[in-house]
Amino acid sequence: MPPVEILKDVYWVGAIDWNIRDFHGYSIYRGTTYNAFLVRDEKITLFDTVKHGFKAELLHQISRIIDPTAIDYLVVNHVEMDHSGLLPEVVDLVKPERIFCSEKGEKGLTAHFRREDWPYEAVKTGDSIGLGSRTVQFIETRMLHWPDSMFSYIPEDRLLISSDAFGQHWATAERFDDEVDLSLLLGHAAKYYANILLPYSNLVQKLLSKIKEMDLKVDMIAPDHGVIWRGNPGKILECYDKWSQQRGRLKALVIYDTMWHSTEMMAKAIVDGLVQEGVNVQLFDLATNHRSDIIAEVLDAGALVIGSSTLNNGMLPRMADLLHYMKGLRPANKIGAAFGSYGWSGEAVKLIKAIMEEMGFRVIDPGISVQYVPAHDDLQNCVELGRKVAKAVKKGG
Ligand code: FEO
Repeated sequence: MPPVEILKDVYWVGAIDWNIRDFHGYSIYRGTTYNAFLVRDEKITLFDTVKHGFKAELLHQISRIIDPTAIDYLVVNHVEMDHSGLLPEVVDLVKPERIFCSEKGEKGLTAHFRREDWPYEAVKTGDSIGLGSRTVQFIETRMLHWPDSMFSYIPEDRLLISSDAFGQHWATAERFDDEVDLSLLLGHAAKYYANILLPYSNLVQKLLSKIKEMDLKVDMIAPDHGVIWRGNPGKILECYDKWSQQRGRLKALVIYDTMWHSTEMMAKAIVDGLVQEGVNVQLFDLATNHRSDIIAEVLDAGALVIGSSTLNNGMLPRMADLLHYMKGLRPANKIGAAFGSYGWSGEAVKLIKAIMEEMGFRVIDPGISVQYVPAHDDLQNCVELGRKVAKAVKKGG
């Protein structure tokens, strides 16, 4: 990919990772990009680098614009290795006059690379630097999603370089939102939000208020992953506002794992009950659905009905995996109910219910446990459970 001049003298110089499929347990079926941005001004400045292993791509891009050794400043908006993994090699080559990062960023970079000799300059919200015809204002965004994270804002270009926020794990040859299908793009952005930023939703709300309060004029949002918001940057701000409020829609998920199909029969009967009450339903068998795809749907679901067979006095391992992952992401405002079949001990339903309660779900039913294969009456009870959940969702929890 050649570099792309996204604004006059501002270039995308990142790398496209077409083949990556896993990001710490988040399945990224369509790869990702590591975006870096070069500003050509009196002080030539590189914002972020790329993951280790993409040196050739980054330097090839930069070399088509300038000699990389002409770079004066580096800005590190985020320490995580997908953006700073190549930093030691870039610093050794470029010998920058300054490396700007947050105070936590300096600590994180020092801990990772043990290079106390680098020319760090720690910045905080409200600090700015001049590049010549431009200024860069820094906005710390702690825990969005690491303690060091920050934004860089260039008011003269009305450009917000937003680090991980507003990104998508999606490898494309296109660089802008107005060049791709919007519904596909929003699907990738929602999955990214649900799997990365969901636990920090209250901080997202505060950040959006701060952006409003600072009256930032933003024509372009350039995240460190995926496409750049140029056509409609307001759209992703609006989505982040909606997602971070975590208001459940009239939508329920029925998620299950099953040994010999009895729990599956129960899941389908629960779906019938939800459908009868006119609630949007999605059914997920953990044998064929990845945890991170399910979490993308959890984002705006009003209720989760979760079932597992009992195995060795516990739930099935894929269910334990999902619930462990979900708990870390701290979904809020959910109605919950549990179900499952068992042979002789039947602990799974109680365990699922307990985890839902720990997550703060409003569990509206003791749960349905069925020994061996559900009979007609058992399935009717499952239909009734579906109807009960649907009524609760319609009442708004
Ligand atoms: Fe894309 Fe938190 O790194």
